[in-house]
Formats: sequence, structure tokens, C-alpha cells
Amino acid sequence: MRTKILMVCLGNICRSPLAEGILKSKLDQEMIHVDSAGTASYHIGKKPDSRSISIAKKYGIDISQQRCRQFTARDFDEFDLIYAMDRSNYENIIALAENKSEIAKVNLLLYRADLANQEVPDPYYGGEDGFEEIFHLIDSACNLIVQDIIHK
Ligand code: 4NP
Repeated sequence: MRTKILMVCLGNICRSPLAEGILKSKLDQEMIHVDSAGTASYHIGKKPDSRSISIAKKYGIDISQQRCRQFTARDFDEFDLIYAMDRSNYENIIALAENKSEIAKVNLLLYRADLANQEVPDPYYGGEDGFEEIFHLIDSACNLIVQDIIHK
């Protein structure tokens, strides 16, 4: 069965759309289903931030067709793995969980030892450099996810 992975940040316009696009670009869509969502409702229905669209395009990935949606408790039924970009996102997600198996689906995107439990910093109020930085952090994390899925 296809592994279903959900990438979650606060707004679903900067970090998680990149995480969705980057992971999709690395794996056959028949092996995985990837989606993204935000814990907040500020930007529902909007396109990703233009700075995320640009940095993705720079590396050959088109995320311009994505549209923002909010994370809901139903996502625990739908997805096998839920990745939070930072600890605040993590706390907001697990606040909606009803049991331990739902909580167990949630991890920080950078949870693996080699990425030392770092967070993907919120780039929204910063400059373009922040988007370059988060692109590479997310890309490294997605490489590890791909290894895990392929060697499962
Ligand atoms: P994201 O970034 O969580 O990576 O999508 C943000 C986008 C919007 C806001 C905050 C963070 N905002 O406050 O509107």
C-alpha cells in the first residue's frame, strides 16, 4: 500500500508546501501520497508564498499549483506519517490527537539523529536567504525519508 505522508507547518504557504514538493520530486507517486497542511487558518485557499514558489523553481520543482488547507483531526485517519516543521507545529498537531497511536504518527521533520532534532525555522518574516536555507534543510530530511521508505 502507498505510504501517506503529511507535511505540516503554521501557515501552509512557506515550509510545508516546499516539503510536499521536494518529497514528491524524489519518489514515484505510486509509492507515496504526499500532502501538506497548516495548523492555522490564515491563508486557506491561497497559493504558496512567492518566495517558496521561486526557490522551488530554482531547483526544478513546481509548487505553484498547491493551495493552502488547514490541518484537521481527520488527517490522523488519512495519513501514516505526519511531519511537523517546528516544535510549535508539533504541539498544535498532537493537541488534536485522540490516542497514543495518533500521537505516534507525528514527528519533527528533522527528527533523525543526523539532523539532531533541529527545527525548520519559520522564514515568513525574513528575507530570501531564509528560503534558500530551509530548502536545503527540508531537502536533506526528505532524502532520509526516501531512504527509510525504500529500505522498509
Ligand atoms: P509557514 O510560514 O508556517 O512556513 O507557512 C508562515 C506563513 C504565514 C505566517 C506565519 C508563518 N503568518 O503569520 O501569516
